[in-house]
Amino acid sequence: MEFSGFKAINQLDFQVRPNTVHFVIGPNGAGKTTLLDVVCGKSQASEGELTFRETYNLKKMTENQIVHRGISRKFQAPSIFEQLTVYENLEIAMKQKKSLFSIMKAKNNQVDEQKLAEMLELIGLNEEKDNHAGSLAHGQKQWLEIGMVIMQDPDLVLLDEPIAGMSKTERTRTGELIKQIAKDRAVLIVEHDMEFVKEFADVVSVMHEGQLLAEGSMEEVQQNPRVREVYLGRKVD
Ligand SMILES: Nc1ncnc2c1ncn2[C@@H]1O[C@H](COP(=O)(O)OP(=O)(O)OP(=O)(O)O)[C@@H](O)[C@H]1O
Ligand SMILES: [Mg+2]
Repeated sequence: MEFSGFKAINQLDFQVRPNTVHFVIGPNGAGKTTLLDVVCGKSQASEGELTFRETYNLKKMTENQIVHRGISRKFQAPSIFEQLTVYENLEIAMKQKKSLFSIMKAKNNQVDEQKLAEMLELIGLNEEKDNHAGSLAHGQKQWLEIGMVIMQDPDLVLLDEPIAGMSKTERTRTGELIKQIAKDRAVLIVEHDMEFVKEFADVVSVMHEGQLLAEGSMEEVQQNPRVREVYLGRKVD
């Protein structure tokens, strides 16, 4: 991935497994967000391969096609509809994947209703379902957005610093939510909060200057001398 000749990601060999909470960490400017951009089709890699479930070549696809293959991204800036209720927000997200015909049908069917109810439960917003999304607390808005991403039934979810600005309690709840979500799909998360990564990671990849510096469990990467030198040494211990 190049920006006018500058290689933001360089020779990165990277794999995400199913049912895994996979964190990407690394110093500012390491290329973490760029990696998510390339995976979701927001940016195009100039070289290399990008495959999904061994069948799809994502490099040739648009953002929309990639979403339809089962990769959904939650961006750093929230993109909920503040004027609509929590329920309506989830409803819209669910219908984004459907055909125009079913969107035009006035009523949700029973399966849809069930799905919406389960999601409200999962993200802990059942009591807020008829409130305007704009009235939610910061953490709740993030959970709603994660819920909206999951309503699209992705096999891979991409999250960029999902707990930024959250209280300790909200962080823990978000971690639990992510763990729950990863039971049925892979979650790839960029995060700076090492306590959080330590608690919830199955796999950690450390990026530095566009490359993969180390990969493994949090303990393994913490022991890595290069990782300590460029990143963790300053933050953990
Ligand atoms: N649109 C762009 N045009 C030019 N350079 C860019 C662009 N986007 C990112 N870069 C550069 O690419 C490098 C990687 O940026 P990226 O945003 O991926 O880092 P990051 O690891 O997400 O950092 P942070 O932890 O600060 O979010 C940085 O040097 C950045 O300045
Ligand atoms: Mg970033």
